[in-house]
Amino acid sequence: MLIDIIAGARPNFMKIAPIIREIEKANDKSGLEKTDRHYLEYRLIHTGQHYDRNMSGAFFEQLGIPEPDMNLESGSGTQSEQTGRIMTRYEQVLTERKSDLCIVVGDVTSTMACSITAKKMGVRIAHVEGGIRSRDWTMPEEINRVATDSITDYFFTTSEVANTNLQTEGVTDDRIFFVGNTMIDTLLSNTGKLQEPAVFGSEDLSEGAYFVMTLHRPANVDEEQKLKSLIDNIAKGTEGEKIIFPVHPRTKKILDELGISHDNLVYTEPLGYLEFIWLVKHARAVITDSGGITEETTVLGIPCLTLRDNTERPETVTEGTNELIGTNPEAVKPALEKLMSGDWKTGSIPQNWDGKASTRIVEQIQVLAKNGGLDFHTPYIDNALMFETTGE
Ligand code: UD1
Repeated sequence: MLIDIIAGARPNFMKIAPIIREIEKANDKSGLEKTDRHYLEYRLIHTGQHYDRNMSGAFFEQLGIPEPDMNLESGSGTQSEQTGRIMTRYEQVLTERKSDLCIVVGDVTSTMACSITAKKMGVRIAHVEGGIRSRDWTMPEEINRVATDSITDYFFTTSEVANTNLQTEGVTDDRIFFVGNTMIDTLLSNTGKLQEPAVFGSEDLSEGAYFVMTLHRPANVDEEQKLKSLIDNIAKGTEGEKIIFPVHPRTKKILDELGISHDNLVYTEPLGYLEFIWLVKHARAVITDSGGITEETTVLGIPCLTLRDNTERPETVTEGTNELIGTNPEAVKPALEKLMSGDWKTGSIPQNWDGKASTRIVEQIQVLAKNGGLDFHTPYIDNALMFETTGE
């Protein structure tokens, strides 16, 4: 069988790496020939949504991800432009050779675009990290999640909350597999390989006495004055401790114009995975508006202050080390005071975040392949035509 694995943007790469590794292990273990129906042949398809070396290539090298079999080179643009390019080019790929299963991960534009194309071409969809919901329609990621899940065949979920969300939306239990978190598979398999980044020495940092910050969501970075107030309040609130701020390209464009500077604020380029996680693991705390980082800090036991009003990952708050501070710059001061006074929860690790999610995913795909769950399914367009014919 042929599986397409879709990856487009930075947070996708750590989610696909362990799945690919497990597919290769499963093939070695099964001893099947490539020609066997149940051999797991795969194509790694990079949509090209993220293309800078430090947003993409560096992750492939560090995480041992093979070179993509194809790159759709969708590049920058509005989300509709990116979606259009990805859909047109992936449709061409499927026209040349149709796959049996399309695995999409996360909630980025590439996730949604490839799901829609695959579904229309009659290819089954498996969504890794399906079912999570922020209920915030101002987030493009929420639109991507809901659109993807509305046409997904099989859901590989990270939490009981995700399972419940899907059940509430009418998904039957036989399509939901609570496997855990592939991002945590990557985290746990790399803890022995982490690399101290140059900024640790060059800024004379000490373990447990600096902050890591990431900001890229439109709600925080697109309004210049709000972004400035947020950063000013954060810089004041850390009592002189340094804040290491690897800057996302979207944020960089705005910051270059604003020119905000503080003695304790250190801008860097986006870091590689192994350097970034090293920095987080040794930090006093993380300040972020990312979703994935709240999962990593939960497992690492590092306090996390999230500059958002909601989260699609509530277990990082109810069980983990994360707290939602909101996006109001005024909320930063009391949150940092609480942190600096040592009054922060320690948290626990959510169920199934044990490094084995990808093993469970690949085992389940093998079961589905054997019991006919991945057999060709009639594309929607054929159904529509059938109705027309029957109606005559
Ligand atoms: C995307 C995802 C977001 C994810 C984030 C992680 C969507 C809707 N959003 O947001 O969920 O958290 O990635 O990084 O898919 N750019 C570069 N070089 C690159 C990539 C992007 O310069 O390698 C620039 C683009 O030209 C654009 C900006 O960064 O101006 C934003 O990139 P884009 O892919 O549109 O979305 P992100 O904000 O990165």
